Amino acid sequence: MATAAAQRTAGSEADGAPDPVDTTAYQHAFDAAVAADERIEPRDWMPDAYRATLVRQIAQHAHSEIIGMQPEANWITRAPSLRRKAILMAKVQDEAGHGLYLYSAAETLGTGRDELLDKLHSGRQKYSSIFNYPTLTWADVGAIGWLVDGAAITNQVPLCRCSYGPYARAMVRICKEESFHQRQGYELLLALSKGTPEQHAMAQDAVNRWWWPSLMMFGPPDDESQHSAQSMTWKIKRHSNDELRQRFVDICVPQAESLGLTLPDPELRWNEERGHHDFGPIDWTEFWEVLKGNGPCNEQRINQRRRAHDEGAWVREAAAAYAAKHTGSAGGTGHETGATRA
Ligand SMILES: [Fe+2]
Ligand SMILES: [Fe+2]
Repeated sequence: MATAAAQRTAGSEADGAPDPVDTTAYQHAFDAAVAADERIEPRDWMPDAYRATLVRQIAQHAHSEIIGMQPEANWITRAPSLRRKAILMAKVQDEAGHGLYLYSAAETLGTGRDELLDKLHSGRQKYSSIFNYPTLTWADVGAIGWLVDGAAITNQVPLCRCSYGPYARAMVRICKEESFHQRQGYELLLALSKGTPEQHAMAQDAVNRWWWPSLMMFGPPDDESQHSAQSMTWKIKRHSNDELRQRFVDICVPQAESLGLTLPDPELRWNEERGHHDFGPIDWTEFWEVLKGNGPCNEQRINQRRRAHDEGAWVREAAAAYAAKHTGSAGGTGHETGATRA
């Protein structure tokens, strides 16, 4: 590791917390490390605002992974074959795993999972609005895999190079699994699209409903995005919302053609000059409404999450008691730990 990182680590190890009068030196070392594309690690000094931004982003990401289990879990019992059921169960389970890696990454910044879950349950932290839309038919499972997981990959691949080490490393594994999710969705839609006229219509209807919300997943346009500029300076974010959205549209157009499905945008066309597809305006009123809590499923999703958390209390207590017994931790009773751990 280069000098900048060594200096940051030495500083924070020496006295636990940097002397307030001395932070300029730490700030310079931090800026130099970011500029040199080095990773910032948990024990390194970092600006408070950088830490807060990461906690907010990682928490929102983690919440999205676990809330995102709900719309698809809705179809596990009704999957049309054993093969489809096994695939869907594996996918939903992967999403729980993604939540786990991400809550762990947030813990390295000093914020516990119990605190983050509490913020989710009380509405003080958000999850991706895409999961506030209902899954009305089996084809929605395909459309979510193809479009929602596809948009997630487009967003997340650049995060593998994020300046914060634990987040970047979690994203490497997550992206590998997301790419399986995207392919299973595509394959499911292809089977429906080439099936009976009713199946084809079902696939088209699902794509019609999920296309625009997927484009909204990249966040508001660049000129309205609150946190973008600072996050790009810190190399948490590498590309702007509009840039990633354009990349996603360009990827999806030829895939829709191969699927034999139409993307529901009459203004979608190749622009030779720009070397990209033009697309129609996004209804941002809908986006802000869903974000405010007025989407079709906001209430249902959060109620289900709270219920699952309450019903899981005994599992957390038992796991904590087991861990206390087997690590032989001095004086620790499972009960005390169980009350505070999430
Ligand atoms: Fe995921
Ligand atoms: Fe996924």
